[in-house]
Amino acid sequence: MNKAKFITFEGVDGAGKSTHLSWFVETLRSRGIDVLLTREPGGTPLGESLREILLHQPMHAETEALLMFAARREHVERVIKPALARGTWVISDRFSDASFAYQGGGRGVLVGKLEQLEQWTHGELQPDLTLLFDIPVEVARQRLSNNQSLDRFEQEQADFFEKVRQAYLDRRTKYPQRFALIDAAQSLEQVKASLETVIQALLP
Ligand code: TYD
Repeated sequence: MNKAKFITFEGVDGAGKSTHLSWFVETLRSRGIDVLLTREPGGTPLGESLREILLHQPMHAETEALLMFAARREHVERVIKPALARGTWVISDRFSDASFAYQGGGRGVLVGKLEQLEQWTHGELQPDLTLLFDIPVEVARQRLSNNQSLDRFEQEQADFFEKVRQAYLDRRTKYPQRFALIDAAQSLEQVKASLETVIQALLP
């Protein structure tokens, strides 16, 4: 049996990640793959409670980082590892790269501190593949402007998102083997074609 894959979706708010995620999961399922779709922060009852707090309650940047990783610890132990162990693929809407991008890049939490938390939380587990939906910040913000109820992150200014975007690109430079960069400014059809290539490479 082929080893179950752990795949993460990342990108700045407004990159269209969620739309592509649904299509990606449906396509894998239609080809007979058993897939669990989950998200961060969240993915467990405790994680979803922490998500509510994280998305709406103001807090210190390091508190934010600690809560993201606390939710992640629960997610890794109770959901991600058990699923992979029984041969189910796990697709997560965001994972630790988001903490490096948002808390590290956006909020300025020291990368060394985040690396310690990453090591503690899932030292032995990394995604097999990370799809990074990259898009110019002004295009992403235009897409967000149609959205009526913006959370604490989505309400940030353009310079915050520029830092988030750059931090994501830095993660890709650091881990080039696991990242696939998707140009999210392309049309929906073009993005699907890129994802189809990714899926072809994944399937046995
Ligand atoms: P997101 O995944 O974009 O969900 P939705 O599409 O429902 O808005 O929202 C989660 C937010 O949490 C997003 O703005 C990024 C932020 N986030 C962090 O800041 N750090 C993290 O480690 C994670 C997982 C998410």
